[in-house]
Amino acid sequence: MNLNKFNNTKGIILAAGRASRLFPITFAVNKQLLHIYDKPMIYYPLSVLMLAGISDILIITRKEDLTSFKSLLGNGSHLGIRLSYKIQKEPKGIADAFIIGEKFISKSNCVLILGDNIFYGQGFTEKLIRANENKHGATIFSYQVNDPERYGVVELDKNNLAKRIVEKPKKPKSNLAVTGLYFYDNQVVKIAKSLKPSNRGELEITDVNKVYLKKKQLKVEAFGRGFAWLDTGTPDSLLNANNFIATIEKGQGLKVACLEEISFNNNWISKEELKNLKGLISEGPYKSYLSKILKK
Ligand code: DAU
Repeated sequence: MNLNKFNNTKGIILAAGRASRLFPITFAVNKQLLHIYDKPMIYYPLSVLMLAGISDILIITRKEDLTSFKSLLGNGSHLGIRLSYKIQKEPKGIADAFIIGEKFISKSNCVLILGDNIFYGQGFTEKLIRANENKHGATIFSYQVNDPERYGVVELDKNNLAKRIVEKPKKPKSNLAVTGLYFYDNQVVKIAKSLKPSNRGELEITDVNKVYLKKKQLKVEAFGRGFAWLDTGTPDSLLNANNFIATIEKGQGLKVACLEEISFNNNWISKEELKNLKGLISEGPYKSYLSKILKK
């Protein structure tokens, strides 16, 4: 796979926020540092960007959590990627990421992923690469849910094209939630800067998508029923996500979101570098898994 052609697109992981629905778990620990089965939550969104071929990534977090993220992931060079960090002082809304990240994005296209979103399913990488190839406008992803009122909801017309997007509608007109993965061209910075805070006081990502929709530049791709999009917002959904990943990994003997494996498969690190990384990890299942990859 030739990933070089994608190198221009920048990635952002939004990992600030208070995660108050998880209190007291998140009183002293950032939600994205909690574990999902055998690795920290942030590995999952980071793996998505890496699978899309994106290697220049900004992590936005809170001041008090910066040191922890840096000690976990550093500058990314061990994974053949470039990680930088910025602070969000107040949870001003998801679209604030493009204002905070303006310099980082510069003249590039940009993919935003929410730090608490977990995606899993066959054909995912192809979908990501296709979305990244679309250099103009925006691509977002829908997923059928039972409780659409908790999300941004997209309504489609007869031709399956997006007609309307509403943030947390009281009476949803469809059960298609907008997931926390967004591909944008460079207009996104200007659009984010033009937004006014919503009734709940946030710069809404849904308002960004509405601008693209109005310009007829919004593509909505569906994740079908064979796909999993997992929420980690409540103690129960967090537990379910842990169990889901454990079930998949134990059943297949393959890890979801093993960053070293993805990097190696992308040819971003050599066999020698992978061997060195393995050397830094204490004996345990993760190290054994890296040994398995090296033997392949
Ligand atoms: O998960 C998908 C949903 O995410 C979309 O369907 C909605 O359209 C979108 O608004 C968002 O909904 P939530 O209201 O559930 O997002 P939440 O406030 O839970 O934040 C999601 C993640 O983003 C979470 O990890 C915290 C982080 N965040 C959020 C805000 C508002 C920040 O880092 N900074 C922020 O200012």
